[in-house]
Amino acid sequence: MSAPDQRDAFGVYVHWPFCLSKCPYCDFNSHVRHQPIDEERFVGAFTQEIATTAARVPGRAVSSIFLGGGTPSLMQPGTVGAILDAIGKHWSIADGAEVTLEANPTSVEATRFRGYRAAGVNRVSLGVQALDDASLKALGRLHTADEALAAVAIARKEFERYSFDLIYARPEQTTDAWASELKRAIGEAAEHLSLYQLTIEADTPFFGLRAAGKLVTPDDAQARALYDVTQEICAAHGLPAYEISNHARIGAECRHNLVYWRGDEYAGIGPGAHGRLDIDGRRHATATERRPEAWLLLVESSGHGIVTDDELNSEERGDEYLLMGLRLREGIDPDRYKQLAGRALDTDRIKNLRDEGAISIDADGRLRVTQEGFPVLDAVVADLAA
Ligand SMILES: C[S@@+](CC[C@H](N)C(=O)[O-])C[C@H]1O[C@@H](n2cnc3c(N)ncnc32)[C@H](O)[C@@H]1O
Ligand code: SF4
Repeated sequence: MSAPDQRDAFGVYVHWPFCLSKCPYCDFNSHVRHQPIDEERFVGAFTQEIATTAARVPGRAVSSIFLGGGTPSLMQPGTVGAILDAIGKHWSIADGAEVTLEANPTSVEATRFRGYRAAGVNRVSLGVQALDDASLKALGRLHTADEALAAVAIARKEFERYSFDLIYARPEQTTDAWASELKRAIGEAAEHLSLYQLTIEADTPFFGLRAAGKLVTPDDAQARALYDVTQEICAAHGLPAYEISNHARIGAECRHNLVYWRGDEYAGIGPGAHGRLDIDGRRHATATERRPEAWLLLVESSGHGIVTDDELNSEERGDEYLLMGLRLREGIDPDRYKQLAGRALDTDRIKNLRDEGAISIDADGRLRVTQEGFPVLDAVVADLAA
Protein backbone atom coordinates (compact mmCIF):
# COMPACT_ATOMS: atom_id res chain seq x y z
CA MET A 1 0.00 0.00 0.00
CA SER A 2 1.36 3.46 -0.83
CA ALA A 3 2.21 5.74 2.09
CA PRO A 4 -0.79 6.93 4.13
CA ASP A 5 -1.62 10.61 3.89
CA GLN A 6 0.34 11.03 0.67
CA ARG A 7 -0.88 14.21 -1.00
CA ASP A 8 -0.26 13.45 -4.66
CA ALA A 9 -3.23 11.19 -5.38
CA PHE A 10 -6.01 12.50 -7.62
CA GLY A 11 -8.96 10.29 -8.50
CA VAL A 12 -11.74 10.65 -11.05
CA TYR A 13 -15.09 8.97 -10.35
CA VAL A 14 -17.52 8.58 -13.26
CA HIS A 15 -21.10 7.47 -12.52
CA TRP A 16 -23.15 5.38 -14.97
CA PRO A 17 -26.65 5.54 -13.49
CA PHE A 18 -28.53 2.74 -15.28
CA CYS A 19 -29.32 -0.88 -14.37
CA LEU A 20 -31.35 -3.62 -16.02
CA SER A 21 -33.47 -3.95 -12.89
CA LYS A 22 -33.46 -2.47 -9.41
CA CYS A 23 -32.26 -4.81 -6.66
CA PRO A 24 -34.58 -4.65 -3.63
CA TYR A 25 -31.81 -3.75 -1.15
CA CYS A 26 -30.09 -1.04 -3.23
CA ASP A 27 -30.29 2.69 -2.60
CA PHE A 28 -27.54 3.72 -5.01
CA ASN A 29 -28.37 6.30 -7.69
CA SER A 30 -29.46 3.69 -10.23
CA HIS A 31 -32.39 3.80 -12.64
CA VAL A 32 -34.14 1.39 -14.97
CA ARG A 33 -35.15 2.64 -18.43
CA HIS A 34 -37.31 0.72 -20.85
CA GLN A 35 -36.01 2.44 -23.95
CA PRO A 36 -32.40 2.37 -25.22
CA ILE A 37 -29.97 4.82 -23.60
CA ASP A 38 -28.44 7.38 -25.96
CA GLU A 39 -24.83 6.61 -25.02
CA GLU A 40 -23.45 9.08 -27.55
CA ARG A 41 -25.34 11.90 -25.90
CA PHE A 42 -24.04 10.82 -22.50
CA VAL A 43 -20.46 10.71 -23.84
CA GLY A 44 -20.92 14.31 -25.00
CA ALA A 45 -22.10 15.36 -21.55
CA PHE A 46 -19.39 13.40 -19.67
CA THR A 47 -16.76 15.01 -21.94
CA GLN A 48 -18.20 18.45 -21.28
CA GLU A 49 -18.32 17.96 -17.53
CA ILE A 50 -14.74 16.60 -17.50
CA ALA A 51 -13.57 19.69 -19.44
CA THR A 52 -15.36 22.07 -17.06
CA THR A 53 -14.03 20.31 -13.96
CA ALA A 54 -10.47 20.20 -15.36
CA ALA A 55 -10.65 23.96 -15.96
CA ARG A 56 -11.38 24.38 -12.21
CA VAL A 57 -8.61 22.00 -11.07
CA PRO A 58 -6.08 22.02 -13.92
CA GLY A 59 -2.72 20.27 -14.13
CA ARG A 60 -3.55 17.23 -12.00
CA ALA A 61 -1.99 13.83 -12.75
CA VAL A 62 -4.83 11.30 -12.45
CA SER A 63 -3.71 8.35 -10.31
CA SER A 64 -7.01 6.41 -10.40
CA ILE A 65 -10.27 6.34 -12.34
CA PHE A 66 -13.36 4.47 -11.15
CA LEU A 67 -16.34 3.85 -13.43
CA GLY A 68 -19.10 3.03 -10.94
CA GLY A 69 -22.84 2.70 -10.92
CA GLY A 70 -25.46 1.71 -11.47
CA THR A 71 -24.10 -0.83 -13.91
CA PRO A 72 -21.19 0.52 -15.97
CA SER A 73 -20.83 -2.86 -17.70
CA LEU A 74 -23.98 -1.98 -19.65
CA MET A 75 -21.93 0.65 -21.52
CA GLN A 76 -20.46 -0.19 -24.87
CA PRO A 77 -16.65 -0.47 -24.73
CA GLY A 78 -16.48 2.47 -27.17
CA THR A 79 -18.36 4.63 -24.64
CA VAL A 80 -15.86 3.71 -21.91
CA GLY A 81 -12.98 4.44 -24.30
CA ALA A 82 -14.39 7.88 -25.13
CA ILE A 83 -14.76 8.77 -21.43
CA LEU A 84 -11.19 7.65 -20.66
CA ASP A 85 -9.88 9.60 -23.67
CA ALA A 86 -11.62 12.75 -22.42
CA ILE A 87 -10.02 12.34 -18.96
CA GLY A 88 -6.59 11.87 -20.60
CA LYS A 89 -7.12 14.91 -22.79
CA HIS A 90 -8.01 17.33 -20.00
CA TRP A 91 -5.67 16.04 -17.29
CA SER A 92 -2.57 13.88 -17.52
CA ILE A 93 -2.76 10.22 -16.54
CA ALA A 94 -0.07 9.14 -14.05
CA ASP A 95 2.10 6.13 -14.94
CA GLY A 96 0.49 2.94 -13.70
CA ALA A 97 -2.86 4.63 -12.99
CA GLU A 98 -5.55 2.25 -11.74
CA VAL A 99 -8.64 2.20 -13.99
CA THR A 100 -11.52 0.19 -12.47
CA LEU A 101 -14.89 -0.63 -14.01
CA GLU A 102 -17.74 -2.01 -11.90
CA ALA A 103 -19.45 -4.92 -13.65
CA ASN A 104 -22.48 -7.09 -13.11
CA PRO A 105 -21.58 -10.75 -13.63
CA THR A 106 -24.04 -11.76 -16.34
CA SER A 107 -22.79 -13.66 -19.37
CA VAL A 108 -23.71 -10.83 -21.73
CA GLU A 109 -21.66 -8.32 -19.79
CA ALA A 110 -18.63 -10.61 -19.50
CA THR A 111 -18.38 -10.72 -23.31
CA ARG A 112 -17.50 -7.02 -23.23
CA PHE A 113 -14.53 -7.43 -20.86
CA ARG A 114 -11.95 -7.68 -23.67
CA GLY A 115 -13.30 -4.47 -25.20
CA TYR A 116 -13.03 -2.68 -21.86
CA ARG A 117 -9.43 -3.80 -21.53
CA ALA A 118 -8.67 -2.49 -25.02
CA ALA A 119 -10.33 0.79 -24.01
CA GLY A 120 -7.90 1.20 -21.08
CA VAL A 121 -9.62 -0.48 -18.11
CA ASN A 122 -7.09 -2.51 -16.07
CA ARG A 123 -9.21 -3.66 -13.11
CA VAL A 124 -12.80 -4.89 -12.76
CA SER A 125 -14.95 -5.12 -9.68
CA LEU A 126 -17.77 -7.65 -10.01
CA GLY A 127 -21.01 -7.67 -8.02
CA VAL A 128 -21.23 -11.42 -7.33
CA GLN A 129 -23.18 -10.94 -4.02
CA ALA A 130 -23.68 -14.65 -3.19
CA LEU A 131 -22.54 -18.06 -4.39
CA ASP A 132 -25.87 -19.89 -4.24
CA ASP A 133 -28.85 -19.46 -6.52
CA ALA A 134 -31.49 -19.28 -3.77
CA SER A 135 -29.72 -16.32 -2.13
CA LEU A 136 -29.17 -14.61 -5.48
CA LYS A 137 -32.86 -14.95 -6.22
CA ALA A 138 -33.78 -13.57 -2.80
CA LEU A 139 -31.48 -10.61 -3.46
CA GLY A 140 -33.28 -9.99 -6.76
CA ARG A 141 -30.20 -10.67 -8.85
CA LEU A 142 -30.45 -11.46 -12.57
CA HIS A 143 -27.52 -13.92 -12.64
CA THR A 144 -26.91 -17.41 -11.26
CA ALA A 145 -23.91 -18.43 -9.17
CA ASP A 146 -22.41 -20.36 -12.12
CA GLU A 147 -22.81 -17.37 -14.36
CA ALA A 148 -21.11 -15.14 -11.79
CA LEU A 149 -18.22 -17.58 -11.41
CA ALA A 150 -17.87 -17.76 -15.20
CA ALA A 151 -17.64 -13.95 -15.28
CA VAL A 152 -14.97 -14.08 -12.53
CA ALA A 153 -12.99 -16.58 -14.67
CA ILE A 154 -13.18 -14.23 -17.67
CA ALA A 155 -12.08 -11.31 -15.48
CA ARG A 156 -9.12 -13.38 -14.26
CA LYS A 157 -8.12 -14.06 -17.87
CA GLU A 158 -8.56 -10.52 -19.18
CA PHE A 159 -7.32 -8.32 -16.34
CA GLU A 160 -4.25 -8.36 -14.16
CA ARG A 161 -6.39 -7.10 -11.27
CA TYR A 162 -9.97 -7.93 -10.31
CA SER A 163 -12.15 -7.96 -7.23
CA PHE A 164 -15.64 -9.10 -6.42
CA ASP A 165 -18.32 -8.14 -3.92
CA LEU A 166 -20.31 -10.43 -1.65
CA ILE A 167 -23.15 -9.46 0.67
CA TYR A 168 -23.37 -11.34 3.97
CA ALA A 169 -25.58 -11.20 7.08
CA ARG A 170 -28.37 -12.20 4.72
CA PRO A 171 -31.73 -13.44 6.05
CA GLU A 172 -31.32 -16.78 7.84
CA GLN A 173 -27.63 -17.03 7.03
CA THR A 174 -25.78 -19.20 9.54
CA THR A 175 -22.15 -18.68 10.52
CA ASP A 176 -21.22 -22.14 9.16
CA ALA A 177 -22.90 -21.55 5.81
CA TRP A 178 -21.18 -18.16 5.46
CA ALA A 179 -17.80 -19.62 6.48
CA SER A 180 -17.93 -22.21 3.70
CA GLU A 181 -19.25 -19.73 1.13
CA LEU A 182 -16.45 -17.32 2.03
CA LYS A 183 -13.77 -19.98 1.74
CA ARG A 184 -15.11 -20.90 -1.67
CA ALA A 185 -15.05 -17.23 -2.67
CA ILE A 186 -11.46 -16.85 -1.49
CA GLY A 187 -10.56 -19.76 -3.78
CA GLU A 188 -11.92 -17.72 -6.69
CA ALA A 189 -10.43 -14.41 -5.60
CA ALA A 190 -7.01 -13.15 -6.58
CA GLU A 191 -5.99 -10.19 -4.51
CA HIS A 192 -9.07 -8.29 -3.39
CA LEU A 193 -12.56 -8.96 -2.01
CA SER A 194 -15.28 -6.55 -0.82
CA LEU A 195 -17.51 -8.11 1.85
CA TYR A 196 -20.53 -6.02 2.84
CA GLN A 197 -22.96 -6.74 5.63
CA LEU A 198 -26.50 -6.43 4.25
CA THR A 199 -27.81 -3.00 5.23
CA ILE A 200 -31.53 -2.37 5.13
CA GLU A 201 -31.76 1.09 3.58
CA ALA A 202 -34.81 3.34 3.97
CA ASP A 203 -37.09 3.56 0.94
CA THR A 204 -36.06 0.18 -0.47
CA PRO A 205 -38.41 -2.82 -0.88
CA PHE A 206 -36.36 -4.70 1.76
CA PHE A 207 -37.10 -1.92 4.25
CA GLY A 208 -40.85 -2.38 3.73
CA LEU A 209 -40.58 -6.16 3.93
CA ARG A 210 -38.64 -6.03 7.18
CA ALA A 211 -41.09 -3.56 8.69
CA ALA A 212 -43.89 -5.97 7.76
CA GLY A 213 -42.05 -8.85 9.46
CA LYS A 214 -41.53 -10.65 6.14
CA LEU A 215 -37.76 -10.27 6.08
CA VAL A 216 -35.77 -11.23 9.13
CA THR A 217 -32.13 -10.16 9.20
CA PRO A 218 -29.53 -11.37 11.72
CA ASP A 219 -29.70 -9.72 15.15
CA ASP A 220 -26.68 -7.82 16.51
CA ALA A 221 -25.08 -10.88 18.13
CA GLN A 222 -25.42 -12.96 14.96
CA ALA A 223 -24.15 -10.09 12.80
CA ARG A 224 -21.16 -9.77 15.11
CA ALA A 225 -20.44 -13.51 14.87
CA LEU A 226 -20.61 -13.29 11.07
CA TYR A 227 -18.27 -10.30 11.10
CA ASP A 228 -15.76 -12.06 13.36
CA VAL A 229 -15.70 -15.20 11.25
CA THR A 230 -15.15 -13.03 8.15
CA GLN A 231 -12.10 -11.38 9.71
CA GLU A 232 -10.64 -14.69 10.90
CA ILE A 233 -11.02 -16.54 7.62
CA CYS A 234 -9.79 -13.69 5.44
CA ALA A 235 -6.76 -13.01 7.64
CA ALA A 236 -5.89 -16.70 7.69
CA HIS A 237 -5.99 -16.75 3.87
CA GLY A 238 -3.75 -13.71 3.35
CA LEU A 239 -6.63 -11.28 2.68
CA PRO A 240 -6.72 -9.10 5.81
CA ALA A 241 -9.17 -6.21 6.05
CA TYR A 242 -7.54 -2.91 5.10
CA GLU A 243 -10.91 -1.19 5.48
CA ILE A 244 -14.02 -2.17 7.40
CA SER A 245 -15.51 -4.07 4.40
CA ASN A 246 -12.52 -4.46 2.08
CA HIS A 247 -9.87 -7.16 2.09
CA ALA A 248 -6.71 -7.39 0.05
CA ARG A 249 -3.30 -8.91 -0.17
CA ILE A 250 -0.68 -6.39 0.95
CA GLY A 251 -0.14 -3.93 -1.90
CA ALA A 252 -3.34 -4.92 -3.75
CA GLU A 253 -5.69 -2.43 -2.08
CA CYS A 254 -8.06 -0.47 -4.34
CA ARG A 255 -6.11 2.74 -4.83
CA HIS A 256 -9.18 4.67 -5.90
CA ASN A 257 -11.11 3.90 -2.74
CA LEU A 258 -8.03 4.83 -0.69
CA VAL A 259 -8.34 8.32 -2.22
CA TYR A 260 -11.74 8.71 -0.48
CA TRP A 261 -10.73 7.17 2.81
CA ARG A 262 -7.46 9.09 3.09
CA GLY A 263 -9.14 12.39 2.30
CA ASP A 264 -7.33 13.00 -0.99
CA GLU A 265 -8.70 14.99 -3.92
CA TYR A 266 -11.13 13.59 -6.50
CA ALA A 267 -13.47 14.77 -9.23
CA GLY A 268 -17.05 13.44 -9.44
CA ILE A 269 -18.39 13.19 -12.99
CA GLY A 270 -21.89 12.09 -14.05
CA PRO A 271 -25.35 12.04 -12.39
CA GLY A 272 -25.26 12.06 -8.59
CA ALA A 273 -21.45 12.00 -8.38
CA HIS A 274 -19.65 13.57 -5.43
CA GLY A 275 -16.28 15.30 -5.62
CA ARG A 276 -13.71 16.92 -3.32
CA LEU A 277 -11.75 19.62 -5.14
CA ASP A 278 -8.95 21.81 -3.80
CA ILE A 279 -9.33 25.32 -5.23
CA ASP A 280 -7.26 28.28 -4.01
CA GLY A 281 -6.33 26.40 -0.85
CA ARG A 282 -9.96 25.61 0.04
CA ARG A 283 -11.60 22.21 -0.15
CA HIS A 284 -14.88 22.14 -2.10
CA ALA A 285 -17.45 19.36 -1.61
CA THR A 286 -19.37 19.02 -4.88
CA ALA A 287 -22.41 16.98 -5.89
CA THR A 288 -24.17 16.76 -9.23
CA GLU A 289 -27.85 16.46 -10.14
CA ARG A 290 -28.95 12.88 -9.46
CA ARG A 291 -31.63 12.38 -12.12
CA PRO A 292 -29.87 11.20 -15.30
CA GLU A 293 -31.95 13.10 -17.86
CA ALA A 294 -32.01 16.28 -15.74
CA TRP A 295 -28.22 16.00 -15.34
CA LEU A 296 -27.86 15.70 -19.15
CA LEU A 297 -29.90 18.84 -19.75
CA LEU A 298 -28.01 20.75 -17.08
CA VAL A 299 -24.61 19.83 -18.51
CA GLU A 300 -25.78 20.63 -22.03
CA SER A 301 -27.03 24.05 -20.97
CA SER A 302 -24.39 25.09 -18.41
CA GLY A 303 -21.31 22.90 -18.98
CA HIS A 304 -21.59 20.96 -15.71
CA GLY A 305 -24.19 19.19 -13.58
CA ILE A 306 -23.11 20.52 -10.18
CA VAL A 307 -26.00 21.43 -7.87
CA THR A 308 -24.02 21.61 -4.61
CA ASP A 309 -20.63 23.23 -4.17
CA ASP A 310 -19.74 23.88 -0.52
CA GLU A 311 -16.44 25.12 0.87
CA LEU A 312 -15.72 22.96 3.89
CA ASN A 313 -14.70 24.71 7.10
CA SER A 314 -12.05 23.33 9.48
CA GLU A 315 -14.54 21.48 11.63
CA GLU A 316 -16.09 19.76 8.61
CA ARG A 317 -12.65 18.85 7.29
CA GLY A 318 -11.69 17.33 10.63
CA ASP A 319 -14.96 15.38 10.87
CA GLU A 320 -14.58 14.04 7.35
CA TYR A 321 -11.01 12.95 8.05
CA LEU A 322 -12.21 10.97 11.09
CA LEU A 323 -15.28 9.55 9.36
CA MET A 324 -13.34 8.28 6.36
CA GLY A 325 -9.89 7.61 7.82
CA LEU A 326 -11.00 5.54 10.80
CA ARG A 327 -12.55 2.99 8.42
CA LEU A 328 -9.01 2.10 7.41
CA ARG A 329 -6.83 -0.36 9.29
CA GLU A 330 -3.98 2.17 8.89
CA GLY A 331 -6.07 4.67 10.87
CA ILE A 332 -5.39 8.39 11.02
CA ASP A 333 -2.55 10.71 11.89
CA PRO A 334 -3.61 12.87 14.90
CA ASP A 335 -1.29 15.67 13.69
CA ARG A 336 -3.01 15.75 10.32
CA TYR A 337 -6.36 15.93 12.14
CA LYS A 338 -5.09 18.93 14.08
CA GLN A 339 -3.88 20.60 10.90
CA LEU A 340 -7.26 20.10 9.19
CA ALA A 341 -9.60 20.72 12.14
CA GLY A 342 -7.62 23.54 13.76
CA ARG A 343 -7.78 21.71 17.11
CA ALA A 344 -6.35 18.54 18.61
CA LEU A 345 -8.38 15.46 19.45
CA ASP A 346 -9.65 15.41 23.04
CA THR A 347 -7.17 13.50 25.22
CA ASP A 348 -9.83 12.35 27.75
CA ARG A 349 -11.97 10.86 25.00
CA ILE A 350 -8.94 9.12 23.53
CA LYS A 351 -8.08 7.69 26.95
CA ASN A 352 -11.62 6.39 27.52
CA LEU A 353 -11.80 4.76 24.10
CA ARG A 354 -8.38 3.17 24.64
CA ASP A 355 -9.44 1.88 28.05
CA GLU A 356 -12.50 0.34 26.41
CA GLY A 357 -10.25 -1.33 23.81
CA ALA A 358 -11.96 0.40 20.88
CA ILE A 359 -8.89 2.29 19.63
CA SER A 360 -5.12 2.14 19.89
CA ILE A 361 -2.33 4.67 19.48
CA ASP A 362 0.56 2.83 17.95
CA ALA A 363 4.33 3.33 17.99
CA ASP A 364 4.10 5.25 14.71
CA GLY A 365 1.76 7.73 16.43
CA ARG A 366 -1.30 6.73 14.34
CA LEU A 367 -4.70 6.31 15.93
CA ARG A 368 -6.39 3.10 14.85
CA VAL A 369 -9.72 1.45 15.51
CA THR A 370 -9.18 -2.07 16.90
CA GLN A 371 -10.88 -5.29 15.82
CA GLU A 372 -13.23 -4.83 18.83
CA GLY A 373 -13.88 -1.22 17.87
CA PHE A 374 -14.82 -1.80 14.21
CA PRO A 375 -18.32 -3.20 14.91
CA VAL A 376 -19.09 0.05 16.82
CA LEU A 377 -17.19 2.36 14.45
CA ASP A 378 -20.00 4.92 14.15
CA ALA A 379 -20.03 5.45 17.91
CA VAL A 380 -16.22 5.75 18.04
CA VAL A 381 -16.23 8.40 15.29
CA ALA A 382 -19.07 10.32 16.95
CA ASP A 383 -17.21 10.29 20.27
CA LEU A 384 -13.92 11.54 18.81
CA ALA A 385 -15.60 14.17 16.65
CA ALA A 386 -17.66 15.65 19.54
C1 LIG B 1 -22.80 0.25 -6.73
S1 LIG B 1 -23.10 -1.33 -6.13
C2 LIG B 1 -22.93 -2.21 -7.53
C3 LIG B 1 -22.30 -2.87 -8.51
C4 LIG B 1 -23.17 -3.55 -9.55
N1 LIG B 1 -24.22 -2.71 -9.99
C5 LIG B 1 -23.76 -4.81 -9.00
O1 LIG B 1 -24.80 -4.73 -8.35
O2 LIG B 1 -23.21 -5.87 -9.26
C6 LIG B 1 -21.69 -1.76 -5.20
C7 LIG B 1 -21.86 -2.86 -4.19
O3 LIG B 1 -22.50 -2.39 -3.05
C8 LIG B 1 -23.05 -3.50 -2.33
N2 LIG B 1 -24.36 -3.10 -1.82
C9 LIG B 1 -25.30 -2.35 -2.43
N3 LIG B 1 -26.36 -2.17 -1.60
C10 LIG B 1 -26.09 -2.82 -0.45
C11 LIG B 1 -26.78 -3.02 0.79
N4 LIG B 1 -27.99 -2.50 1.00
N5 LIG B 1 -26.18 -3.74 1.76
C12 LIG B 1 -24.95 -4.25 1.57
N6 LIG B 1 -24.25 -4.11 0.42
C13 LIG B 1 -24.80 -3.41 -0.57
C14 LIG B 1 -23.12 -4.65 -3.31
O4 LIG B 1 -22.23 -5.66 -2.93
C15 LIG B 1 -22.70 -4.02 -4.62
O5 LIG B 1 -21.97 -4.90 -5.43
S1 SF4 C 1 -27.06 -3.41 -6.63
FE1 SF4 C 1 -26.07 -2.89 -8.57
S2 SF4 C 1 -27.42 -3.83 -10.16
FE2 SF4 C 1 -28.59 -3.76 -8.29
S3 SF4 C 1 -29.76 -1.86 -8.45
FE3 SF4 C 1 -27.91 -1.42 -7.23
S4 SF4 C 1 -26.44 -0.66 -8.67
FE4 SF4 C 1 -28.06 -1.70 -9.87
